[in-house]
Amino acid sequence: MSLVDPASLSLLADSYPHRAAMIRHHLAAEPLLGHAALAAAARDLPSGKVERRVHNATDGAGFRHRADGRDPAAAIAEGGDAAAWIMLRGIEQLSDYSALIERLLAELAPVIVPATGPVRDIKGFVFVSAPGTHTPFHFDAEYNILFQIAGTKLFATCPPVPPFLDLGQREAYHLAGENMLAWQPDFAQAEQQHQLTPGDALFVPFAAPHRVLAGDAPSVSLSVTWQSRASRAEADALALNPVLRRWGLPAHDPAAATGAPWLRAAVRRLGQRIGVL
Ligand SMILES: [Fe+2]
Repeated sequence: MSLVDPASLSLLADSYPHRAAMIRHHLAAEPLLGHAALAAAARDLPSGKVERRVHNATDGAGFRHRADGRDPAAAIAEGGDAAAWIMLRGIEQLSDYSALIERLLAELAPVIVPATGPVRDIKGFVFVSAPGTHTPFHFDAEYNILFQIAGTKLFATCPPVPPFLDLGQREAYHLAGENMLAWQPDFAQAEQQHQLTPGDALFVPFAAPHRVLAGDAPSVSLSVTWQSRASRAEADALALNPVLRRWGLPAHDPAAATGAPWLRAAVRRLGQRIGVL
């Protein structure tokens, strides 16, 4: 049986890569995404890849690591932590999960590859969320499909342009890894809300700011992310911006660009290779 509902591919094709799209999947009964297997994965991953954070933070500053010493793997084995958000990062490093992600992306390739080329830098995340978990407003510089496995989520997205995401925030991500964004109440009028139940998946456009609210039941989600040749070029061009400003040259702004910044990216890579950037 396919992992992604074949009828969903045309829905995704209508939106990819610029608009969010809901699709359907058949992963809810996948044993690798059950609590027992995920607890084992949490033990197998390096400890730095397993994060346990405050589940009811109102903003990025409050979204801090929990420091009460509770073992995340034990909490997952018990069906999730009642008062924490647990993230497994880098699950593509585990062979069974890598194979699952490759199968998923192979099914999606007829949509992805014609639009943005071969996928690169594939990553997998699992989120085990306490009821009511709030993931504050932020963005991720990657293409993302979030597969809802258990419980429900409200996933709200905004366009990756000002005032939701500005050039300075994009650069800060590539220079310092900072991805939390300040939420403004009037953003609620512009956000697109997606209600996810098990069997739903949401494609999140590259860098689209979002906030997520888990429902009343413990939630499990799988997130598969990737880059394209163009998105890698954009990352290089954004990292070059501070240097260009020092030289009095114009910065690259993805919100105003009409194509990928191949030349700027090539300059940065060359500069890095010869040790001047
Ligand atoms: Fe995110």
